[in-house]
Order: sequence, then structure tokens, then C-alpha cells
Amino acid sequence: MTVEEDKISSKLPGQKIPKLKSPQWSNKSNKFNFYQKIPTELLQGYASAGGLDDGIDLDIIWEKICDSSAVLEVGAGYGRVIKELVKRNYAGSISAIEQCENFFATLQAKYSRNATLYNKNILNFESPQKFPVILMLWSCISDFAKEEQLPVMRKLHQLLQPGGLLIMDTFPSTGLPLNASEASNQGYTVNWQECEAHGYIPNRDEMKGYQVLVNFKSIATKEYVTSTNRNRILYFLEK
Ligand SMILES: C[S@@+](CC[C@H](N)C(=O)[O-])C[C@H]1O[C@@H](n2cnc3c(N)ncnc32)[C@H](O)[C@@H]1O
Repeated sequence: MTVEEDKISSKLPGQKIPKLKSPQWSNKSNKFNFYQKIPTELLQGYASAGGLDDGIDLDIIWEKICDSSAVLEVGAGYGRVIKELVKRNYAGSISAIEQCENFFATLQAKYSRNATLYNKNILNFESPQKFPVILMLWSCISDFAKEEQLPVMRKLHQLLQPGGLLIMDTFPSTGLPLNASEASNQGYTVNWQECEAHGYIPNRDEMKGYQVLVNFKSIATKEYVTSTNRNRILYFLEK
């Protein structure tokens, strides 16, 4: 099946799809069973099907980040966000972390002059530099199982400057990726050929809980709809 056919045959939210079989999974299994195996063009196809390839999320957050001196992007994929920052002539420094070697090679080939790139798992990333802005867009938090999410939030808080802003993007907790093959209770599975990944979409209460537990000063949200009619939520957490 080509990427195009895969997009067309995808299940839409609200359509009946099988219940999740409660598999054991983790961020690590997603890396080895999915992201490290899929072609870059498949991830690009998903961005396009989800209406994110036009940078609508960057349009919405731009006013909040344009004057910052530095951005750290977590889970940079094939460079969609870096491309959008460069396109807008972002004047601060760009750092980006990506744990998969395949995507990291793409980032290095395309953006090593625009950004400082780290082939790292965010949970193992240490930096003397603290950042005024951290971006974790396009559902990257959902690549972590429910019990892994709080440690990620603690790490992001630790990497922020006092007064710094963490911006995250997810589906609403009732939403699903277009290519979900099974889903229930905020969890889902996606497949491509023999590759399989799982996700967990934190809801607003859980995000609020992370704010309190990790000690972010404030949390705000912004709902939006992409050009392909997909509902999404941005969370703004201030340290
Ligand atoms: C859905 S893509 C989003 C790409 C990019 N943030 C964007 O908005 O276009 C999620 C990316 O996060 C990366 N990722 C997932 N877990 C990670 C981790 N623990 N550390 C670093 N990168 C991670 C994946 O390899 C994948 O490239």
C-alpha cells in the first residue's frame, strides 16, 4: 500500500474501530517497532493528511515565540517545525532533539546549518543551557505511555528557563490519528505494513495534573482546526 492509499483508507474519528487490546508498550517500543522502520515520506504523508504540513500550528504560536532568543524542539521528526521556523526568519537559536537515527540523518542533511541537532532521547538529554521556549508539537507527548508522561514533563520543566514557555500539541482526548487501527480509553494503535506504534492522548485534567505536580506556574489551551478538518489542542505551560 502506498502512502496515498494508506491516507485514503484511514479510519476517521467516530468510525467504529476495534477496541485496544491493552498491549504493553513504551516510548522505546514505538522507536524500534515503528519510527525507526518507516520511511520519512510516510511521516510527511501523515503531516499532510493531518493538515499540519502548512505550519498552521506555527502560525498560531508564532506571536508567543518570535522574539525569544532560543527554541528547543523535542522530537523533531523530519524537520517540519525547523523548516517553519526558518521560513519565518526566526532570529533566535534553534536546537532540536530526535532519537531515531533515520530521521536524525534527514535533519542533519537538511538543517545542520540552521539548528544544533542532538540524536538523543529527551529523557537522557542534559544541557547547561536552559531554554526560554520548548516546543513539543504534533502529538509527540502521545508517543509516551501514560506512566512515562510525567517524567517527560519533569524533564521539560528542568530544561526551561524560569519564566520559560513549554508549548505542546495533542489531539483532544476523544480524537484519534487518521490511521488508528484500534482505540479505547485515550489509547490507540497505528500500523504501517509490519510496523506498529501505540499512543496515549492525555486529557485536559491530566495535563492540569502534570502542571500541578511538576510545578508549572500556569497552563492555557488553544483549540484549533487544521486545513483537513482535524481538531487539535495546543497547551501553553509557563515555568
Ligand atoms: C509525530 S512526530 C512529530 C515531529 C515534529 N515534532 C513535528 O511536529 O513535525 C514525533 C517524533 O518524536 C520523536 N520522538 C519520540 N519519542 C522521542 C524521545 N523520547 N526523544 C526524542 N525524540 C522522540 C519520534 O522519533 C518522531 O520523530
